[in-house]
Parts: sequence; structure tokens; C-alpha cells
Amino acid sequence: MENGNYKAINWNQVSDEIDKATWEKLTEQFWLDTRIPVSNDMDDWRTLDDDHKWVVGHVFGGLTLLDTLQSQDGMAALRRDVRTQHETAVLNNIQFMESVHAKSYSTIFETLNTPDEIDEIFDWSDSEDLLQNKAKRIYTLYHDDENPLKKKISSVFLETFLFYSGFYTPLYYLGHNKLNNVAEIIKLILRDESVHGTYIGYKFQLGMKELTENEQQSLKDWMYDFLYYLYDNEEKYTHLVYDRVGWSDDVLKFIRYNANKALMNLGQEPLFPDTAEDVNPVVMNGISTSTSNHDFFSQVGNGYLLGNVEAMNDSDYDIGGKKKN
Ligand SMILES: [Fe+2]
Ligand SMILES: [Fe+2]
Repeated sequence: MENGNYKAINWNQVSDEIDKATWEKLTEQFWLDTRIPVSNDMDDWRTLDDDHKWVVGHVFGGLTLLDTLQSQDGMAALRRDVRTQHETAVLNNIQFMESVHAKSYSTIFETLNTPDEIDEIFDWSDSEDLLQNKAKRIYTLYHDDENPLKKKISSVFLETFLFYSGFYTPLYYLGHNKLNNVAEIIKLILRDESVHGTYIGYKFQLGMKELTENEQQSLKDWMYDFLYYLYDNEEKYTHLVYDRVGWSDDVLKFIRYNANKALMNLGQEPLFPDTAEDVNPVVMNGISTSTSNHDFFSQVGNGYLLGNVEAMNDSDYDIGGKKKN
């Protein structure tokens, strides 16, 4: 509503070019899970032992829960605080794609798992404490309309940090030329999440700039505390899932690297010393074919200040020179 009247969205008058560029990018990269022939991975799947199959099934169970949260609560929460009508449209697109993401894990399960196994995976993701902890904490923040910027922080931490303990597994197999169709789905999800995290991080930075210095400092303190809380939980979750295959240390390096990326999306300094070089190169190969979105964001919107979001590329994460922690 504006001056008592309802306002039609005008795409020929866009106040923030980033909205338009993001809409175009997201609609350009639209995809559906049903177009990927997951059944071609059955031969690879049969070569995995029970522990490795368990890991694949359960990390996807965890990812289903997080994508459900994004589709059912996350985008609706962010939509209550938009700055432009075009931002609403972008968030509508994101919300639908989060439903596609959440559904695509079921497409994978349907092919690789028995009905009993699928039931067990969903029982697990609906009750496992370490998984539920993060979902409930973020759910609560999404429903706190007093703190719009905390909602955005939660969303970026989910998009750019929490997904990656799960993404590790398909990227690992992709690097070993296994489960390529499953990995194709995950790469498409990852490509979306990369835009989501950057876009919402950008909107966060616009809001952050409007705060007083004291308010900025206290929000920053809260942000780092929240990241520590999530990392502590994620460390335990990683051990719970990955100790059985011996990958936990490698996964933890990967999630610390992505936690830094989440902070950068929010315009903040990295927290962990881990850089791209610390991450298993097999996994980095998988990820490098999927995410060129940072370049996209640095090229759009000439004249629009993107803060620390601009010009992000892999070298930005070479933070060995200013180690913290
Ligand atoms: Fe998603
Ligand atoms: Fe997302």
C-alpha cells in the first residue's frame, strides 16, 4: 500500500538494479529435479558399503530439513521486511526454488533407497537433536519480526554455511567420478544457494549501514556469537554423521571455509584461518564448476555500492595473512 492505494509492480522503474539482475539470473538458471536421470547412478551406488550409503542418505535427510525451513518459513519471514516490490518478486522466486530443492532429495531417495530406508531417514531428520537444534533456533529467529537484520543473518548462515556439511558428500563423490547425476542435482542447488546467500547478504548490508555505530557493533557481536553457537553444533553434527567413514576432519575444514564465506556475504571479516587451500582439492574441484555467481554480482549494478560483496573470487578467501582464532 502507498498513500492508501495498492501499488502495481513496475519493472520499468527499478530502484535497485541488483533486484532486477538477481531476478534475471535466478530465472535463467531455473531447473527441475525430474529432468536429471538419477537412476544412472545405481551402478555406483551398489559399490558403496553400508556406512557410506548411510552417510549419503542422512546428509540428504538433513539438507531436506533445511530446505524445508527455507521454503516454509525463511523467505516468508524475509518478505515481511523488503525494501522494494522487486525484492518481494525475487524472494517469491527463491521460495519456490527452495521447494524444488527440498523435493529433489526425495527424488534421489526414491531412486537409491528402499521405502523402509526412506522412512528411517525422515524419522531421523525429524528427531535428531543436533539437526533440530539449528532448525529450531533459526525458525525462532525467522518468526521474530522485531529483528529483521537477525533474520537475514540467519538466512545467510543457513545458505552459505549450514548446507555445506551436507554438500561435502556429493562433491566428494563427484570428485571421484561417482554418483554424477546425484551430484548434478546438488550442483544446481549449490548454484542457487550461492545467489541466495549473496543477494540476502547484500540486502543485509544495506540495512546494516542505516544503523548507528553502537547498533552495528552490538549486531556484529551477536552475529559472531551466533556463528560460534552454530559452529559448535555443526562440529558435533559432523562427528555424528561422518565419524563412521573417517571424513570428519575434512568436512570441518570445509565448513569453516564456508562459514568465512557467509561472513563475507554479510560484509564481515572472516573468523577461521581455513582457506580454499586447506579444503580437500577433490571437493574444491566439484565446487569450482558450480559457482561462478560471485563474478556475476561484481559485474551488475554499475554505480551501486555492494560493499564487501563486490568482486568476490577465490583469491578473496586467501586470508592466511590475517589469521584470527
Ligand atoms: Fe535451497
Ligand atoms: Fe536458498
